[in-house]
Amino acid sequence: MGTDAPLVSVAHVGKVFGGRRRSVEALQDVDLTLRPGALTALVGPSGCGKSTLLRIIAGLERASSGAVTIDGAAPDVLRSRGDISVAFQDPNLLPWRTVASNVGLALKLAGREPDPARVGELLRTVGLDGFEKARPPQLSGGMRQRVAIARCLVTRPRLLLLDEPFGAVDELTRRRLNVELPPLWQARPTTALLVTHSIPEAVLLADEIVVMSDRPGRVVARVPVDLPRPRRAAQLHSPEFHALVDEVGDLLGVDRDAPASGDAPASGGGEAADRAAGGGAAGGGAADGSAADGSAAGGSAADDSAAAGARA
Ligand SMILES: Nc1ncnc2c1ncn2[C@@H]1O[C@H](COP(=O)(O)OP(=O)(O)O)[C@@H](O)[C@H]1O
Ligand SMILES: [Mg+2]
Repeated sequence: MGTDAPLVSVAHVGKVFGGRRRSVEALQDVDLTLRPGALTALVGPSGCGKSTLLRIIAGLERASSGAVTIDGAAPDVLRSRGDISVAFQDPNLLPWRTVASNVGLALKLAGREPDPARVGELLRTVGLDGFEKARPPQLSGGMRQRVAIARCLVTRPRLLLLDEPFGAVDELTRRRLNVELPPLWQARPTTALLVTHSIPEAVLLADEIVVMSDRPGRVVARVPVDLPRPRRAAQLHSPEFHALVDEVGDLLGVDRDAPASGDAPASGGGEAADRAAGGGAAGGGAADGSAADGSAAGGSAADDSAAAGARA
């Protein structure tokens, strides 16, 4: 494979859920390529099929038409080697295992050696220093999402699929993670697809932004992001940054004067399926660890400090 060949190629992918009488067309003729080492952000209205597309790329869901190839093979090939990590909207942690053990389990499932030092380092990076021995039910929704991000990165995957991983993370932590996480996967380098409902986040992190239409989801635009790297929070104020945010907002039909509305982390029909399909590839919850998750999806700044207080 030449260096310019895409790692992931999505060709004419369509997806129809359900039977003959009641069916939902989630995706229609989606074409997408992910360049090796690039981060592609996927933005689109709620329910347009972003999570579905991510699961098809991960090999967890079958396309009704079209095909996905990774390195020229079916997604299962890369996945069976533990080279694909997925962070779902729902963190899908095992509630009876500690935070460190949830992260470490991903290494085990990928057939790798235990690496407590790396687990500890990643937990520090995502701001969970001191929570190694806590169990998921003791954490806020935002903290659980950060565990899931650490679990994704611990195996140093070639392909990282992130589905609104910061949905329940409070704004300040989210900004910090937006700056501190990319070096972790750029060092390797890792090919990444990030679903986000935050346009500024997409511009800050991505090399290219793919904009999807309302359901059935189609790709309506691809916007290259040529801002220099490493990206810093200060760039959030540059005219180039704002021009890109406006361009993507216009493509999405977002009213610039209205606050951007996003997908609530615990809403919509895809989440039940996320839970059902989730564990295996995420390297974590083979069983359903999500019972307590929904309730903690909002207001995680308060939750975080409450949990920290309870610990102290
Ligand atoms: N397993 C499923 N069975 C039936 N319908 C589904 C399933 N998963 C998703 N859908 C439907 O497909 C559409 C796209 O869902 P999803 O991919 O979760 O959208 P997004 O992530 O963009 O919000 C929605 O209408 C959703 O209800
Ligand atoms: Mg989704």
